[in-house]
Amino acid sequence: MFKDAKFIISLPRYGDFPGRGLPQLAVCGRSNVGKSSLINSLCGRRGLAKTSSTPGKTRLINVFLIDNAFHLIDLPGYGYAKVSKREQESWGQIMSAYFSQAEALKLALHLVDIRHEPSQQDLEMNAFLYQTGIPFQVVATKADKISRGQYQRHLAPIARALAVQPWDIIPYSSQNAQGRDALAQAIYKQVFPARNQTQRIV
Ligand code: GTP
Ligand code: MG
Repeated sequence: MFKDAKFIISLPRYGDFPGRGLPQLAVCGRSNVGKSSLINSLCGRRGLAKTSSTPGKTRLINVFLIDNAFHLIDLPGYGYAKVSKREQESWGQIMSAYFSQAEALKLALHLVDIRHEPSQQDLEMNAFLYQTGIPFQVVATKADKISRGQYQRHLAPIARALAVQPWDIIPYSSQNAQGRDALAQAIYKQVFPARNQTQRIV
């Protein structure tokens, strides 16, 4: 778990912000998958990132400073059915501009709901991460919604679809902190490789 987290800025488009240049960790996934909740639970701060039961809450790029050491970037979610075509296009532009300009990006967390097979847009996000060579960690959210005995049955098709090994996926619950230590460890390994043995996540 992180010790300290500060909200820095919300950006409609990626650009300059105070302190830019530190290593970055990006959080991406479909709307409502639990990105903001995961950020709050990793930081131990309930209201840090705004969560909502209404999908499409986070439309901006939200930047947080973690432990005065790296930036966590909460990216807008995809796949929200009710957005207009124009908004979907604008989402694509925001994302590709971010990924092409985020020179300090060390790791992307790709969040998928443990209960569901990845959507078409999850597959596109996954293909994009592979193509760009950005190291990524798949996180299966809302793990508290199924019993532990059911994990493997749910993780296997997700792993197949996203071309990773099932044991490399971290089941995560923002409600009971399941997976929090494993994820914090994976993040530190990749964001600060010099402090550990260098290890690729994927
Ligand atoms: P957007 O900002 O719209 O892209 O959504 P998001 O991915 O940030 O999702 P958010 O964290 O706002 O969570 C969406 C809903 O899922 C909220 O009602 C959360 O309470 C719920 N939720 C998120 N994580 C978990 C979890 O681990 N377990 C359970 N049971 N519910 C969760
Ligand atoms: Mg959000």
